[in-house]
Amino acid sequence: MELGGKVALVTGAAQGIGKVVTETLLANGAKVSLLDANIAGGEATKTAFEQVYGAENILFLPCDVTSESQLKDSFSKTLDKFKRLDIVCNNAGIFEEGNWEKCISVNLISVIKGTYLGLQHMSKENGGSGGVIVNVASMAGLLPFVAGPVYAASKHAVLGFTKSLAMSCLEKHGVRINAVCPTFVDTLLLENLQSDENLAQFAFLKEKVNSLIADFGVVKPSQVAAGFLQVVMDQTRNGAMLKILRDGKNEYEIPAEIQKSQ
Ligand SMILES: NC(=O)c1ccc[n+]([C@@H]2O[C@H](COP(=O)([O-])OP(=O)(O)OC[C@H]3O[C@@H](n4cnc5c(N)ncnc54)[C@H](O)[C@@H]3O)[C@@H](O)[C@H]2O)c1
Repeated sequence: MELGGKVALVTGAAQGIGKVVTETLLANGAKVSLLDANIAGGEATKTAFEQVYGAENILFLPCDVTSESQLKDSFSKTLDKFKRLDIVCNNAGIFEEGNWEKCISVNLISVIKGTYLGLQHMSKENGGSGGVIVNVASMAGLLPFVAGPVYAASKHAVLGFTKSLAMSCLEKHGVRINAVCPTFVDTLLLENLQSDENLAQFAFLKEKVNSLIADFGVVKPSQVAAGFLQVVMDQTRNGAMLKILRDGKNEYEIPAEIQKSQ
């Protein structure tokens, strides 16, 4: 998939991984709709990118992804401005073990809603041109995470959803759906993973978190964005889970049943 003239929607794009994913898309010629609940951060990111990539290629939409109406409205406004949609990145996520229902709402329910809205607007059945959806999961979607059982549950569920849906949606809608699974990434969320407040009842495991961070390593958001670009561009990838690992290693983990059907 070439990105020139393509239109992407990225959630949680004000900072961290979403911001770098957005810049990667813009630098490769796509137009991008940035969604974030952090309005000041989203405006600042939009202003910074406009100066480099042109105001006509960027839209910032204040959006709390847990609000169905705000999310729907953001997809509609993206279509109104750019007239098409080709790429959706469901990236917004939080780590708040003490507020576990919110964690499930942001990290899982909103990803499902964003995926279904993406399909609705990109599906060849509905007059769209097809496209690709990338859900930002985590290595905590493939492995247990002792200090974040709800975070791990949300990411395991995102992967279960992504690889299951991928088995039917390419044929039916012309839309590929993949996930990226980063190890620890140098963003604000990494600080939250180490804070008593966000660890809540698992704060007693903080030393264990620190030793996991030392063992697995911390990667830059740019490495995640490179992995995102890889699964977007490679038309053969559907239902793929790309692990983003230390020392620049990005490796696929593909379920056997999907491999067989490709
Ligand atoms: N940082 C890590 O170590 C790491 C590792 C693996 C996966 N991830 C995943 O990467 C994704 C991005 O996280 P990050 O590390 O860039 O964190 P971050 O905290 O830097 O950025 C998250 C962004 O999402 C936005 N957001 C949060 N809740 C929202 C909501 N309800 N509606 C709209 N926007 C909302 C925030 O305002 C922020 O801009 C998340 O899904 C996270 O789980 C992060």
